[in-house]
Amino acid sequence: MNPADEAPNVELTVNGQAVRRRVDDRTLLVDFLRRDLGLTGTHVGCDTSQCGACTVRLDGLAVKSCTVLAVQASGGEVVTIEGLQKDDGTLHPLQQAFIDCHALQCGFCTPGMIMAADGLLRSGRPVDHDSICTALEGNLCRCTGYVHIIDAVRQAAAAPRDAEGRG
Ligand code: FES
Ligand code: FES
Repeated sequence: MNPADEAPNVELTVNGQAVRRRVDDRTLLVDFLRRDLGLTGTHVGCDTSQCGACTVRLDGLAVKSCTVLAVQASGGEVVTIEGLQKDDGTLHPLQQAFIDCHALQCGFCTPGMIMAADGLLRSGRPVDHDSICTALEGNLCRCTGYVHIIDAVRQAAAAPRDAEGRG
């Protein structure tokens, strides 16, 4: 039987859209997002689960999508960096704050940083210097020195909740 004809083994909601696919059981969620769905805003920066560039929201929590199999995530709800902005193009407060605070240079780490920060903002925990550092400790940036990133997360935390996008 052609694999394409087999029943899907991955059924997800990704950025609000239902997705059904048949993939190899070993396929990582990050590869599924990038290769199968073309959502290349989620980056791969290491082979060791250390850089955080692949961070996405899975069922409300920030996860490193290189540590999750696509089939493990099946049945879940994924939001990637592409899903954060509103349908009218308005940026999510975190996206806007990273621009306003000069919190990115090359931008490679930025999607993962934003999705990790999104996990903190959605957690309901106080957002202060220590909690931001803790939330981002699994995310590496080679460019910025982190100071502006922390400023950006603070700015976004002060934004009204209704400014958040569809994600
Ligand atoms: S690619 Fe996932 S942590 Fe580096
Ligand atoms: S902005 Fe370049 S790695 Fe963070």
